[in-house]
Amino acid sequence: MVCLLAAACIAVSATTFTVMHHLQITQFDQELKTTSTRVLHFDRTAGENRAPGSPPVSNNPPLTNAPGVPAQTVLIRIIGSQVMDAGLRDWATGARQYLSAQQVAVLRGLPLGYPVTRDIPGLGDYRLIAVKALDGDVIITGLPLAPLHAAQYHLVAVETGVTVATLILTALLGALTIRRTLRPLERIAATARRVAELPLHRGEVALPVRVPEVDVDPRTEVGQVGAALNRMLGHVADALAVRQAGETRLRQFSADASHELRTPLAAIRGYAELTRRVSDLPPDVAHAMRRVESETERMTNLVDDLLRLARMDSDRPLANEPVDLSWLVIDAITDARIAGPDHRWRLDLPEESVTVTGDEASLHQAVANLLTNARVHTPPGTTVTTALTMSGDQATLSVVDDGPGIRADLLPQVFSRFARGDTSRRHSAGTGGLGLAIVKAIVEAHGGNIDVNSRVGQTAFIMRLPVRPGV
Ligand SMILES: Nc1ncnc2c1ncn2[C@@H]1O[C@H](COP(=O)(O)OP(=O)(O)OP(=O)(O)O)[C@@H](O)[C@H]1O
Ligand SMILES: [Mg+2]
Repeated sequence: MVCLLAAACIAVSATTFTVMHHLQITQFDQELKTTSTRVLHFDRTAGENRAPGSPPVSNNPPLTNAPGVPAQTVLIRIIGSQVMDAGLRDWATGARQYLSAQQVAVLRGLPLGYPVTRDIPGLGDYRLIAVKALDGDVIITGLPLAPLHAAQYHLVAVETGVTVATLILTALLGALTIRRTLRPLERIAATARRVAELPLHRGEVALPVRVPEVDVDPRTEVGQVGAALNRMLGHVADALAVRQAGETRLRQFSADASHELRTPLAAIRGYAELTRRVSDLPPDVAHAMRRVESETERMTNLVDDLLRLARMDSDRPLANEPVDLSWLVIDAITDARIAGPDHRWRLDLPEESVTVTGDEASLHQAVANLLTNARVHTPPGTTVTTALTMSGDQATLSVVDDGPGIRADLLPQVFSRFARGDTSRRHSAGTGGLGLAIVKAIVEAHGGNIDVNSRVGQTAFIMRLPVRPGV
């Protein structure tokens, strides 16, 4: 805005200056012509007796004696090519000054009849007119342009001053006005920022943030933006509430279903075991009973996992007690050694015991799931190295095996629910695909994270836990 205004001011000033200059010069030339006429008249009356072309009579008064001629007027008489009388009268001192040869040289060969501008050395710019008198003499009359220049300088100075003052004032008032006008927009932006900071992606979401009443006036553009944002926030809040209700229902359903399934599963398992123990069962029935038992066990594990996940999803608070990770890992490895005697189990613990705050049972479950995977998904003879380190406020637990690795296409979603490498769905394989999903849920509930990298001959799960979550 200031740039535009500056351009406009410069254009107006330049136009004013040009027009003024033109008017002033026209007026000046008029004055010059009047003076010239006056001098001619004086010359005619003073030199009436002189023959045309002859030199002026010695007692002829010089042209500078002409009455009504303004101060500093240059007056020259040229007869033929001879300069006869070249001078100016300084009315301030009353003295008559003669022009030097150098000054006169500039004035030779002036065109007749119309005014021109010349710079006379020592006197500055002059507006001059050369006129032929009746007796054939050329009389040059010149008026100093200094007063005109002074007026023009004055005009330029005033215009520059006014322009600069206008620009500064406009910049200040403009900035103030714009800032005041945009203040509601800043408040709307602040509202949007506050909404952006809310954790909307999961859990119970309250969206109480709204643009204040004063900024939703539909008569202003900013008010319309505020009102539109409020409407949008209302819709988002409704959508989030619907989403949350749906999720809660689903979680409740899977928790209830898992819970309800446990009792009949336990009964099936008990009856199958009882039946199998009957001594005179035909071999095929005994085999069927064993299958019933093993499948029931698999289903019980699956149902337990589902229930655990449903509980984790419902953001139930976990226990918040000191857990000695070193001992927890030692216990888990001991169990793994018994379950997988054909694997080589290595343990790498720091001298100092590592303690974090959290839920011991859940953390044990997470470590056990990783060890179980290292046992179940690798051939006998595989070496599994479990290492625990502590750096700063973070405990890092890694489970690395030199087994066949995880398939590249499975790796990106290995922590997703029901992601399994066993695509043949051989139920006898006995895995459900929930183990790593549970590990991830547990680690994240403790404020930590888990990564995996795997290639043939090395699969590493790296679990990082903050010593005190939330600190
Ligand atoms: N150490 C490992 N080596 C090779 N593959 C692995 C390893 N750990 C996990 N996997 C692959 O990742 C898949 C997902 O593991 P996850 O623990 O989630 O499920 P699962 O072991 O198949 O079933 P569940 O643990 O529920 O009994 C596994 O099916 C397996 O293919
Ligand atoms: Mg597993």
